[in-house]
Order: sequence, then structure tokens, then C-alpha cells
Amino acid sequence: MAEFVQVATRDQVPSGRRFSTWAGGRKVLIYNVGGEFYATDEQCTHRECSLAEGPFLGKVVTCPCHLARFDVTTGEVLSPPATIPLPTYPVKIEGNRILVGVDITDVV
Ligand code: FES
Repeated sequence: MAEFVQVATRDQVPSGRRFSTWAGGRKVLIYNVGGEFYATDEQCTHRECSLAEGPFLGKVVTCPCHLARFDVTTGEVLSPPATIPLPTYPVKIEGNRILVGVDITDVV
């Protein structure tokens, strides 16, 4: 069952930046792409490097380990060596709060 949980506030994620946090027991990144917020897993789907570290430009994050690139708005793989899309999560804004929809059956 999905439930929205607060993970950050809008002022923690300025435009063009990302913010590392936890949601439903998993590490996620919140991105601000031109004022719209998106959420993905923090770990690259290739070999699990953290995407909190690589370049983030526009809506594209680049893995610092082997340079796979992902569209953070869809999770789509844009460049190898990753082949598996990045898991994404729905985001809801309530005032200054950023909430992410997670499956609470996964929470440990
Ligand atoms: S771990 Fe991200 S590209 Fe290899």
C-alpha cells in the first residue's frame, strides 16, 4: 500500500539541486528540475554507486563510477553501462513540505 511521507522541505532543495534522504526504508534523492520536484532511488542500477555524487544538470544525473546517465524525471537510462531504469517515486508538495509516495509494505 502506498503512503506519502515527508522527506524534505522545499527550501532544502533549491532549483537545480538534489537532496539525499530516506523514504520508506530506502535511500532516495529528491531533485528540483526548474521548480518541479522528482524522486528516485539514490543507488545507480549498474553497481549501486551513489547518484548523490555525480554531476546533475537539467534533468540528467550522471553516475560518478562508470558514467551511466539517467533522466531523473522518468528514470530512463540515457547512457550505458546501466541498462535498468532508475526506480522513481511520486512526489507531492504540501506548502513547504515535499512528500514522496512509498510502498509501506516495504518498510522494515
Ligand atoms: S555504478 Fe553507476 S555506472 Fe556503474
